[in-house]
Amino acid sequence: MTNRTFTMIKPDATEKGSTGAILKMINDAGFRIAAIKMTHLSKEKAGAFYEVHKERPFYNELVDFMSRSPITAAILEKENAVEDFRKLIGATNPANAEAGTIRKLYAASVGENAVHGSDSDENAKIEGDFFFSMLEQF
Ligand code: CMP
Repeated sequence: MTNRTFTMIKPDATEKGSTGAILKMINDAGFRIAAIKMTHLSKEKAGAFYEVHKERPFYNELVDFMSRSPITAAILEKENAVEDFRKLIGATNPANAEAGTIRKLYAASVGENAVHGSDSDENAKIEGDFFFSMLEQF
């Protein structure tokens, strides 16, 4: 088990001006920011990041959405980071997310769900390394 996870604040949250409020929730929940950047994904980069979902019916919609506006990518550190962060963001579909979670507060739909959170330690490492070189991880 590692103590790091990876997140993206997605285009819908960027467009609504929610990035700062979401980062404050992350900070207040006790996560240390080990890396952070705002960037605009090309369709190719968004497609590569979500390659694992390539066969899913929503893949093209997901790639179009993720390349629509800038995102904020970050590596977060905390004991039990992956699990605790998934609790903080709530269910993938905001309709099923618990009160007080980031998705309940800021997400509109399962497709436009405000934030991404890694689902395992292994994927947290792969996803963090997708965005940040070793010189950018602190
Ligand atoms: P995320 O946690 O970033 O990982 C995969 C993403 O695919 C997920 O959040 C959603 O944004 C998206 N997704 C999952 N299920 C659906 C769906 N049924 N329709 C559209 N997008 C989806």
